[in-house]
Amino acid sequence: MKGPDPTISLDQLSDAESFQEPVFLRIARAISADIARGRFRPGQRLPSSRALADSLGVHRNTVLAAYQELIAEGWLVTRPSGGTFVSSDMVDTRPKAFARSAVLRTEVPGRVGFDLAPPPDRFDQPEPPKGALVFASGMPDLRLAPVDDLSRAYRRALRQNGGKLLGYGDPAGELRLRSALASMFADARGLAANESNVIVTRGSQMAIDLCAKVLFSPGDVVAVEALGYQPAWAALRASGARLVPVAVDRSGMVFDALRAVAERERLRAIYLTPHHQYPTTVSLSPGRRLQVLELAAERRIAVIEDDYDNEFHYESRPILPLASADRKGTVLYIGTLSKILAPALRVGFLVAPEPFILRAAAMRATMDRQGDRPVETAVAELIEDGAVQRHVRRMRGHYAKRREALAGALARHLGAAVRFDLPQGGMAIWVEVDSTINVEKWAENARAQGVIATTAKRFAFDGRARNFFRLGFANLNEKEIEEGVLRLKKALRV
Ligand SMILES: Cc1ncc(COP(=O)(O)O)c(C=O)c1O
Repeated sequence: MKGPDPTISLDQLSDAESFQEPVFLRIARAISADIARGRFRPGQRLPSSRALADSLGVHRNTVLAAYQELIAEGWLVTRPSGGTFVSSDMVDTRPKAFARSAVLRTEVPGRVGFDLAPPPDRFDQPEPPKGALVFASGMPDLRLAPVDDLSRAYRRALRQNGGKLLGYGDPAGELRLRSALASMFADARGLAANESNVIVTRGSQMAIDLCAKVLFSPGDVVAVEALGYQPAWAALRASGARLVPVAVDRSGMVFDALRAVAERERLRAIYLTPHHQYPTTVSLSPGRRLQVLELAAERRIAVIEDDYDNEFHYESRPILPLASADRKGTVLYIGTLSKILAPALRVGFLVAPEPFILRAAAMRATMDRQGDRPVETAVAELIEDGAVQRHVRRMRGHYAKRREALAGALARHLGAAVRFDLPQGGMAIWVEVDSTINVEKWAENARAQGVIATTAKRFAFDGRARNFFRLGFANLNEKEIEEGVLRLKKALRV
């Protein structure tokens, strides 16, 4: 296929030396540089002297002189059939796999020609080996996701209103989804919110990031749970916040420790997971809930409440979010559909007083103009007709059984090596490992046996190992859970 004639840029020769050169030499140097970096390949035909002269705005003789120079230097040849070509004797410096990427090659491969800001914290996990059973820390069972409902609703959304949803929309999200979420929260979570209090985000990760961007200036202090959720810490830090760890015990974040931090520092925010503390699964006690809210109101501290798996609570009495008791406008309430439907949908939300929502929407628009309108509309439809709620009920049933299955298998197969309390809710069991066992070594052996178990080190603010596993039970069925625990047992013996 013959494409348009390649152009030649003289801009890359804008150093002082090249400006003093005659124009024909600058052209020659630009072409030889393009050959040297692999943009023009051996045997490639160059534009005719007339075409190149036109595109550069120079006389044709100037281009002819440049070509003559390059022929004399051996870069180019002419052929009897007519035309000027890159000499076939040139070494082909073109990268083999990526024919069109030659222009991105720099003198030092992979080096950029400017300084970068400090990188954000990394929190990705190594890929599990093929066929491994993963006690994933917080993954739903995607094999049971309501794919048919979703695809039907998505198709309807795309066709709706003559493709109107394919245009620009509100950075705060589709009004229909914001309303559907607000009424779902009023029913199930005791939140008195309407659509003006809701922004739809791409997962709760974006909601956390938006809170950080709206709230913090460099150096602002945020209290976080330790152990805790690294991806949130990364987002908070990326906005310049300085994080102060606060210990967690069986009743959640230790309030006395939090108050001590608030007395020592000018605290701007507290990030916490009160419903099922991540990773330990404990719930913040009722007394501490009130204390946190009082402290926040008294000192004008924002409470970022990450309620990531609210729906999965198995004991009879639901625990309402802190946000449901907030009368002073201090709580920024965050949730996600990642656990209810699927993480890849990237639908999360932030519920807050309206002025905050307006600021968050303006901030969001600076990097992500809006969410995915057809997806948001499809999800709104599934909430309106009760499909999401039915799916949640079904999954809660499965997960309750899987929680029992994991607890049973751990007790049967690992006996005295582990201790745990059955969590009231969530998607994982927090397992204490006997102090005579090296938990990191155990996890390493387990990986070799084809089972992945996350150790406490991953959640540690100080990076230190501790004798605990967080074993997720939601993404595996009962048979897989049994097999996974047997593999863990085998790994203990090697
Ligand atoms: C504490 C916590 N927050 C939030 C999330 C959900 O993240 P997202 O909604 O961005 O998928 C998770 C998922 O693992 C989580 O564990």
